[in-house]
Amino acid sequence: MKITDVKVIVTCPGRNFVFVKVMTDEPGLYGVGEGTLNGSEPIVAEAIRHISPLILGRDPHQIEDIWHLLYRQGYWRGGPIFMAAIAAIDIALWDIKGKVANLPVYQLLGGKARDKVMCYSHASGRDEIECEDSARRIIERGFKAVRCQVGNYGGQGIIGVIPPLTPGTPSTAIYEPTPYINSAAKLFAHIRSTLGDDIELLHDAHEQLDPIASARMAKSLEPYRLFFLEDPLMPEHRESWSIVRQASVTPLAIGEIFTSRWDCLPLFMNKWIDYIRIKPIHGGGITEVKKILTLAEPFNVRSAMHGAADIGIIGQAASVAVQSVIPNFGIQEYTRHPEPAYEVTTGACELREGHLYPNERPGLGIDIDEEKAAKYPYQRAYMPLLRRADGTVHVY
Ligand code: CO
Repeated sequence: MKITDVKVIVTCPGRNFVFVKVMTDEPGLYGVGEGTLNGSEPIVAEAIRHISPLILGRDPHQIEDIWHLLYRQGYWRGGPIFMAAIAAIDIALWDIKGKVANLPVYQLLGGKARDKVMCYSHASGRDEIECEDSARRIIERGFKAVRCQVGNYGGQGIIGVIPPLTPGTPSTAIYEPTPYINSAAKLFAHIRSTLGDDIELLHDAHEQLDPIASARMAKSLEPYRLFFLEDPLMPEHRESWSIVRQASVTPLAIGEIFTSRWDCLPLFMNKWIDYIRIKPIHGGGITEVKKILTLAEPFNVRSAMHGAADIGIIGQAASVAVQSVIPNFGIQEYTRHPEPAYEVTTGACELREGHLYPNERPGLGIDIDEEKAAKYPYQRAYMPLLRRADGTVHVY
């Protein structure tokens, strides 16, 4: 069998996604993959077009060899753009292998270690009362774990907004860490006392704190027994994770912008974190992320795969397949995709009572409707920026 073409599909059914179809010389046999990189979708699409000719004519079954070919084809290895491009192709090759074997991808990876993957969803509100209401609605849907946030992306640290200079670019938020940390402690005092001890609570600090502020926050949230505190620090701080670690026993999660084993290893080996958020679509695909989770195992680090709405339906299915088979599964983030996304990519993993189920169909069990995708052309979009009250770009 040979790879004959790699189709790149950039579409915006409610938000932008980058999908691929890896075509073969067997009639009707192809694999679907995803490499969506929020805010950089056209660049990943071009990277896929650039590396695709290297795999034409090759046997799609040779996943490991193709992975190394794509990783080492250039002197400039790694980085988010290339790793997302490799991921898209790698995921599609696993889909092909599953279709040929007539088995779901989780079977090819070793078989189920659990029937379903526990998820957390997002509760939010302008204050702790609204957030409590939002959390109760999520718990009523069967979720046992809820991420709680107040205010916007930067919590109640967002104290103002500057409109965009150029139409079509995002506004800039004005952020201050002190009101943010104070509001988070108040939020969890309220949520834990009203929702009780049985529910798992999570919080995302979105990488906005310096090391000492992070340590103070982890310590201040300790009484409320979080499942984890996510991204208190930017991953670039590295060694400063030890400061946060030593300050408290609040479990720590990081890694949603990690793209390789080399990002993860120091945090594993130093036992600075409890959960790793890397997932197939940004970490080089199923092949590499499965290995990274094996590297995590002896250091007691569990998976907590990033599952915001910019990880599409194919990316989610790849995460669920890996997390169905690894022994060190932790939790999966869940957000519902915009409704048109379910027309463009059909066969999404089923969500029941706060758990995602791996597809039982061969491969990943997902298809891409190219005609529907073409109805939703790419819309230029960027990620937002934070500035401090004095106008400085927020650098922590
Ligand atoms: Co996050």
